[in-house]
Amino acid sequence: MSGTSTRRAATGAGVARPTVTVCRGCCCGTRKVPLLDHIAQLADLRQSLTGMATVRTTDCLDACDHANVMVIQPSAQGRQAGGHPVWLGWVNYPNAISDITTWITAGGPGIADPPNVLDLYTFTPPRQVRQTLDN
Ligand code: FES
Repeated sequence: MSGTSTRRAATGAGVARPTVTVCRGCCCGTRKVPLLDHIAQLADLRQSLTGMATVRTTDCLDACDHANVMVIQPSAQGRQAGGHPVWLGWVNYPNAISDITTWITAGGPGIADPPNVLDLYTFTPPRQVRQTLDN
């Protein structure tokens, strides 16, 4: 877990750019998700989204069955346009980062439709879990 991030900081509400919240808790980003260079994944995400989105890490989002979990939160403009946080699970393939980058480069939630392939990763966590991130 990064010592500089918290769930509260991960809300992304009202920010000018989309926010990508990357779970790095007890399962996501660990050996429990094998065959993936987690450090390189996060570095790739940060590099590819420089100037386009805020990328931050958070502790466990209570959706470990879906590790690695990321949440794409809309920009303020995206929220005004009806965008909402999109939860992605099993983000365990290198190509996923490029698909996420493509979407965010186009504007992210509320502004642009995600690439169809991201449907494979999208899931809806229990309401209580979603509220934890939003609060
Ligand atoms: S460690 Fe990511 S959801 Fe639990």
